[in-house]
Amino acid sequence: MNDIVKKRLILGVTGGVAAYKAAELTRLLVKNGVEVRVVMTEAARHFVAPATFQALSGQPVLTDLWDGPAANGMAHIELTRHADAVLIAPASADFLAKLVHGAADDLLSTLCLARACPLLVAPAMNREMWDNPATQRNVAQLKRDGVVIIGPDSGAQACGETGPGRMVEPATLAEDVESYWHPKLLAGKRVLITAGPTFEAIDAVRGITNLSSGKMGYAVARAAIEAGAEVTLVSGPTCLTPPTAAKTLSVTSAQQMLEAVNKEIAGTDIFISVAAVADYYVLNPSEQKIKKDAHILTLELAPNPDIVANVMNLPNPPFCVGFAAESENLYEFAEMKRKRKRLPLLAANLVQDALGSEDNELTLFDDDGAHPLPRAPKIVLARQLIARTAKLYHKEKGSK
Ligand code: C5P
Repeated sequence: MNDIVKKRLILGVTGGVAAYKAAELTRLLVKNGVEVRVVMTEAARHFVAPATFQALSGQPVLTDLWDGPAANGMAHIELTRHADAVLIAPASADFLAKLVHGAADDLLSTLCLARACPLLVAPAMNREMWDNPATQRNVAQLKRDGVVIIGPDSGAQACGETGPGRMVEPATLAEDVESYWHPKLLAGKRVLITAGPTFEAIDAVRGITNLSSGKMGYAVARAAIEAGAEVTLVSGPTCLTPPTAAKTLSVTSAQQMLEAVNKEIAGTDIFISVAAVADYYVLNPSEQKIKKDAHILTLELAPNPDIVANVMNLPNPPFCVGFAAESENLYEFAEMKRKRKRLPLLAANLVQDALGSEDNELTLFDDDGAHPLPRAPKIVLARQLIARTAKLYHKEKGSK
């Protein structure tokens, strides 16, 4: 259940204002353990100096076809033979046109032509340039050639106009590139995930909730997307940004979460219930803010529906994965919960290890026993959970 091995990326930077964002992209990729070699066009060097990329990547920056470091003088071939992918970010309109025609008049265009690895491009240009039929023709041709086009986003542009053509933000680009490398264990599968806490209203401003941050559920959503799944995320109130590739439904109470799950469940292959659903709701919440006085206030609580139990009781339930947060006796309580809820797979952690933190320790329980996963960032654990889920799912379906 290991995480992926270190990947090598050639980051091609072409001439555009968004070149400054490529510096942040380099930093994020390097932070995530990717080895980044930066190749800049001459135009890119008018926007950002190579020294910036050299400092951030810890590698020499290549700019010239003629004085590459390769012993045989063929840097354009040498470089790509050791790379897992080439990413052009930002990719200018001019560079897209060059790629379409197989031009090879500088180091970056030549290595794109000579490469033996996948090519990903993140276009960035003025909205009229993007909408121009010539650019659209070029993009369509690149897609036909198997090039992966990421973005562009729409919004305010450096030129003062608003529209499509902004380079996808560095954090999203870094995620997209890393996703591209993950094994597509759930290709074409529909995965529904609940995440975060629920909030049960007491009155117009107060409620009962819990300390779930939603980080684990969002990490599971990202890992499922990386594995090629079509993901729907039903989220209670959190401060997190959902993965752009997920369809996200925001809910507040357990009842709303149940309704959203019921709405989305048809056609779902795998249901992963990460949410910390409140066990009780307030029977008669006040529409107005309750005024305080000297008397004891009694709230009447009624049990919430068990969402994962509802899903398990469907005539043809999807493959269901549960979570358990315990404060003691992890193995005993988690296995009891898995049996009681008839779940083929349950991920359990100690609350004191998990709540709100970036790291966690998780133990997976299934019919083969307990599989402890050592402390790691939540995204790493989520990938391991998705790998185990995919294995058991395909075993049950006899599909792999
Ligand atoms: O709260 P409990 O420990 O029973 O939660 C175990 C699993 O059941 C979790 O996967 C949780 O998301 C799910 N659950 C649910 N609806 C509830 C309570 C828990 O789906 N009302």
